[in-house]
Amino acid sequence: MKKTQIYAQEHKQVFLDELFAWLKIPSISADAAYKKDVLHAAEFIKNKLQSVGADKAQVIATAGNPVVYAEKIINPALPTILVYGHYDVQPVVPLELWESPPFEPTIRKTDIHPEGAIFARGATDDKGQTFMHVAAFEAMHQTGELPCNVKFLLEGEEEVGSESLGTFVQNNQDLLKADVVLISDSSMMGKNEPSVCVGLRGILAVEITVKGAKRDLHSGFFGGAVTNPLNALCEMVASLKDENQKITIPGFYDQVHIYSDAERAEINALPFDAEEYKKSIGVNGLRGEKGYSVFEQTATRPTLDLNGIWGGYQGEGSKTIIPSEAHAKITMRLVPGQDPHTIAELFQKHIKQITPLGVSVEVKLGHGGTAYFMDTQSVAYQAASAAVEKTFGMKPYAKRDGGSIPITSLFESVLHCKSVLLGFGLESDALHAPNEHYGLSNFYKGIETIPYFYDFFVKLQK
Ligand code: BES
Ligand code: ZN
Repeated sequence: MKKTQIYAQEHKQVFLDELFAWLKIPSISADAAYKKDVLHAAEFIKNKLQSVGADKAQVIATAGNPVVYAEKIINPALPTILVYGHYDVQPVVPLELWESPPFEPTIRKTDIHPEGAIFARGATDDKGQTFMHVAAFEAMHQTGELPCNVKFLLEGEEEVGSESLGTFVQNNQDLLKADVVLISDSSMMGKNEPSVCVGLRGILAVEITVKGAKRDLHSGFFGGAVTNPLNALCEMVASLKDENQKITIPGFYDQVHIYSDAERAEINALPFDAEEYKKSIGVNGLRGEKGYSVFEQTATRPTLDLNGIWGGYQGEGSKTIIPSEAHAKITMRLVPGQDPHTIAELFQKHIKQITPLGVSVEVKLGHGGTAYFMDTQSVAYQAASAAVEKTFGMKPYAKRDGGSIPITSLFESVLHCKSVLLGFGLESDALHAPNEHYGLSNFYKGIETIPYFYDFFVKLQK
C-alpha cells in the first residue's frame, strides 16, 4: 500500500472531525445575512491548507465573496493540477423538514449508506467533496508522495453563479496556470457504479416581475374586468412548454447540438431503471420531452423550470384580492451549442410578445454559463478512469450530468485547461434539499482515489 493510503487510513477520524468543524459554518452565499459566515468558512479552509504545508495560502477579496488560493510547487518542470471546489452552500429552507439541524453535522445510517452518512448542508455539495482534496493533499505531502505541483482555487459563489470568480480567473491567468483542473462537485451513477462526469449543462437564470394595478384590488369590485398579474404570470409561464414538453420560445432550439445516433446509443447504453428512479424521488410518473430517454432529457436536452413563484396573499384563510404584482424565478438548463446571451435575448423578446394587455412585465437576467464537455480519449479522462478503476475495481462509466458548474467553460476558454469532473456524490444525496448528506464510504473512497489520479496524470502526461 502507498504511504499516502496508510496516512489517510490513520487520519480517518481527524479528517472527519475537521470536515465537521467546517460544515458547522453556515456559509450560505445566496443570503447576505450570512456574509460573516462565508468569510469564516474561507478563513477556515485557508488555515487548514496552510497548516498541512501548502504555500501562499490566502483569502483573496473580490467584488463578492473571497477566493481561497494555495499552492505547492515542488518542481516547475512537473505538471500542475489546479483543484477547484466551493465553500459556499445553498439556503436551508424549509428548515422544518430537516431531521437534524443543517449546520450540526450528524452521522446517520440510510438504506444506501448502511455504514453511515454525514447529514449537513454542504456535506456533499461541496464542502465534503472539496475537503477530500485537502485531505488527499495532506496525505501526499506529509508522506513525501506528492508527485506533481498543485494549486487550490476555492470559491464562495458557486451556488449563485460564480460571477466574482469569473473576473478573478480573467485577471489571474498566470497564477492559475495549470495542466488540468480537478473538481469533485458532481455525482457517480451509483454507490457501486462509479462514473466520471463528462458533461455538464449550461444555465441561464431569470426573474420575471408582472405589475398590474397601482394597488391590490378588491376582487369583488374589479374581478372580471382587469388582468390579474398572478393569473397573467401563470398563463405566460404555462405557455413556455407545450404538451410534448418542448420549450415554445421561438429560436430556443436553433443552436442545440444534435447528437448522432451512435452518440445517443452510447448515452442510452448506461444502466437505467425507470421504476427505481421514480421510487427514489417518490413520483408516480415521468413527463420529459417527448422522443428522448431520461438520460437525454436530463443531460443532452435543454429545459426550463420554475424555481419559485409568488405574489398575492400567502397567509392563513383567504383574502379576496387581485394582487398588484406577481413574481417568478426561472432557470433554463442549456446544452452544447446554446449561448446564454442569445437565449436571454430570445427569452426577453418572447415574454414581451406574450404579455397580455393590462399588465407590464420586467425580466431581470441572472447568472449564465455555457455547457461543458470532456473527451474520454483525453489524458485527463484516462487518468481519472484509471484512478477510479484502481479503487473501485471497475472501469467507471462516462456519464453526462444535467447540473452546471459554469466556471468549467471559463477555465477552458481563459486558462485553456480542461476540467476533470471526478465527483463521488450520489443523486440521492439530497443536494440543495433538506437532509443533504454524503456517504462516509464515498468520502473515504474519494480521499483514496484522488492520489491515484495525481499519479496517473503525471505518468500519462509524459
Ligand atoms: N454540485 C452542483 C453541480 C452539479 C449538480 C453537477 C448535479 C453535476 C450534477 C453545483 O454545486 C451546483 O449546484 N451548481 C449550480 C450552478 C448554478 C447555481 C449556476 C446548479 O447546477 O444549479
Ligand atoms: Zn450546488
